[in-house]
Amino acid sequence: MSKSNDTIQKTIIVALALCIVCSIFVAGSAVLLKPVQVSNRMLNMKENILRAGGMIGVHPSKKEVEEAFTAVVPRIVNLETGQFVEPSEAGYSSVDAFDQKRVSQNPNLSKVLSSSEDMAGIKRRERFAKVYLVKGDDGIEKIILPVRGYGLWSTLYGFMALKGDGNTVLGFGFYEHAETPGLGGEVDNPNWKALWPGKEIYDDSGNVAVALVKGGVQPESPTARYSVDSLAGATLTSRGVQNLLHYWMGQEGYKTFLNKLKSGEAGNV
Ligand SMILES: Cc1cc2nc3c(=O)[nH]c(=O)nc-3n(C[C@H](O)[C@H](O)[C@H](O)COP(=O)(O)O)c2cc1C
Repeated sequence: MSKSNDTIQKTIIVALALCIVCSIFVAGSAVLLKPVQVSNRMLNMKENILRAGGMIGVHPSKKEVEEAFTAVVPRIVNLETGQFVEPSEAGYSSVDAFDQKRVSQNPNLSKVLSSSEDMAGIKRRERFAKVYLVKGDDGIEKIILPVRGYGLWSTLYGFMALKGDGNTVLGFGFYEHAETPGLGGEVDNPNWKALWPGKEIYDDSGNVAVALVKGGVQPESPTARYSVDSLAGATLTSRGVQNLLHYWMGQEGYKTFLNKLKSGEAGNV
């Protein structure tokens, strides 16, 4: 004679068995998919770097990204000396393993910024940065630099790509932020990004002169070569973008490195 299935013990056993099967399935999927996630994240980062440098089309395939990235040489720079260093100086076994976000959070590898120093709103600045170089027949052709800073709601992370002169913009874009779509989020608008190539970062005295101009740039203005229209209806995000560029292109950021790269004192690429 069969017993009834409608007992508390059997209900609990079935519920427990279901929980175990589901948790094995979820944990197994997370473990199995982890390498895919890591490789997709790396691919995405490569695409962002290449896009800033104007080295790929709008919707590149994985193969196109990987192929184009073979022209890019990533190097670690000591921001204080402006010279290339081995990744081991920052505690990493290889340039690929170097994680700038982690370095910026490590008290031994970064410094706390006072409010007067912290124009980009980043709180701490790492001593080492990963930069990306593209070499040509006549030396360095492209210098692609990671930048970040606070907008209105969020930290914006992006890349500034310069020509080998360390001054003329090749491209500029963000790959992560949480500004409002249609307002600060217009940093991603291709029309706004198209305003950047050809602009210059430094004036003739070497001061950071790049600016976002509310109301639009007057083409005949003497500062037009450093100026880009600010984002309509998003003055605060625009100010954040200008501030982060002044920080990262200034003395506390890449200026020492860019000068040493030009004079050949940064070390061999
Ligand atoms: C819901 C909401 C979201 C907003 N998001 C942004 C933003 O992402 N970036 C920004 O600069 N301003 C944003 N603003 C507008 C600012 O509050 C402020 O009015 C604006 O920056 C002023 O720019 P304007 O002088 O160009 O009009 C937002 C306002 C509201 C109500």
